[in-house]
Amino acid sequence: MSSPKYHAFMCNTSRPDGHPRGCCTSKGGGQPLFDRLMQKFQAAMLWDKGVSIAQASCLGTCNAGPVMVVYPENVWYSPKTNEDIDEIVKSHFREGKVVERLVFTP
Ligand code: FES
Repeated sequence: MSSPKYHAFMCNTSRPDGHPRGCCTSKGGGQPLFDRLMQKFQAAMLWDKGVSIAQASCLGTCNAGPVMVVYPENVWYSPKTNEDIDEIVKSHFREGKVVERLVFTP
């Protein structure tokens, strides 16, 4: 089995309101944003292009949420909208170009 070209992990953590760390779900991420990623992943048949995606628990960068990290490049994204997800899929996963405007340093 070969290693994926890109392996993306997207935080899907949810915490109660008022939790001191907050969470990606309360900042507009969570399941709806992951569902969009999965929808685009399937539509573009990215598994055939060596891309793998997975939901993750807290990645430790809650202040930047919602967050996604892409390996092996170790690129950290903070996508806020469906359009941001669409751009990451098109630019990074299909064309190999990092979407700089959505990158943050953990
Ligand atoms: S809750 Fe998403 S990074 Fe911590």
